[in-house]
Amino acid sequence: MNTSSEPLFLRALKREPVERTPVWLMRQAGRYLPEYMEVRKQAGSFMALASNPELACKVTLQPIERFGLDAAILFSDILTIPDAMGLGLYFAEGEGPRFTKPVRTEADIESLHEPEAGKDLGYVMEAIRLIRSKLDSDTPLIGFCGSPWTVATYMVEGGSSRNFENIKSMLYRQPQLMHRLLIKVANASCDYLQAQIEAGAQAVMIFDTWGGSLSTASYKEFSLAYMRHIVAHIKAHHNTRDTPVILFTKGGASWLEMIADTGCDAVGVDWTCDLAHARKRVGDRVALQGNLDPGVLYGNSTVVERECRRVLDSFGPGSGHVFNLGHGIHPGVDPQRVADLVAAVRQHSPALHR
Ligand code: CP3
Repeated sequence: MNTSSEPLFLRALKREPVERTPVWLMRQAGRYLPEYMEVRKQAGSFMALASNPELACKVTLQPIERFGLDAAILFSDILTIPDAMGLGLYFAEGEGPRFTKPVRTEADIESLHEPEAGKDLGYVMEAIRLIRSKLDSDTPLIGFCGSPWTVATYMVEGGSSRNFENIKSMLYRQPQLMHRLLIKVANASCDYLQAQIEAGAQAVMIFDTWGGSLSTASYKEFSLAYMRHIVAHIKAHHNTRDTPVILFTKGGASWLEMIADTGCDAVGVDWTCDLAHARKRVGDRVALQGNLDPGVLYGNSTVVERECRRVLDSFGPGSGHVFNLGHGIHPGVDPQRVADLVAAVRQHSPALHR
């Protein structure tokens, strides 16, 4: 294929020339959008929405239709894997995700169901096929999973956590048990991402939201190693190896070089790190994705434009940048600020690619 006909987003991930910087946003389909709230109400709950391919497709397309973003991300959640393992995922109103059966003991780990993605997570693959049939060819679809460490934090804590008391007890008291859980989640994630790519996902992203809660030594051993395992799996199979992989560790700014060395194609960067500095550190090994502070969207349109320019100028001229936030959009954001963000990237980025 002539690469210039490839979508901007995929070219930027491969650090090939682009006319302007592509932009998409973490949590672009979510509660800040009134049309999302409407469909969610209709579905009854988050899981009812995520497990219904027609409705999942509908909300995936909402931000594309409203803002004309350069990539769509599958509407689902990183916790579908533990749900398929038998943990019973539910969302308590206003409290975030919960599991009816948290994983605490060796017996809990041994009895986990090993999901077959095509079957146990068939609703996700069906949603992917449906979304691809509705998306135009300029807008690639991103598939995703959580990092094994991040997913395990929810499995062991039973939900969101402040201090990670249970999982850090496991990590520091029974490291071998911790590894047994992580390898199970990692293997399920390999199968899951492979199935997503086969169903039509054109890039995949691994979300390591809680890697930044670890020390450097523990991050390498308990988070990075398992993301590397997943990347190696994707790069080892002929039908998945050309699909770009993005790794994102929130709070991982001090580890960018080692993240870039996993063999991934792009590294997501949170807003604590200046992109100019990040780019110097990773060199031409990977593309970078990020890294506007999501809090900027609480500002007015002038502030949004100024801060978008700051991020674009910080990366500087040349390809290899995918504009994004440093983490997901907050629910209270005015959708007009997202429109301002997209307009600013479209207006100011072409000058960086001449
Ligand atoms: O638009 C997109 O980004 C795609 C969909 C997506 C969701 N979750 C939908 C969702 C993606 C990529 C995720 C990933 C995810 N889920 C992560 C990693 C990224 C991150 O945000 O750190 C994590 C840690 C989760 C687990 C999770 N799911 C939590 C902690 C919560 C509750 C907190 C919250 O933001 O509400 C969810 C629920 C969830 N997943 C919502 C959405 C849109 C909100 C659910 C609702 O409608 O009430």
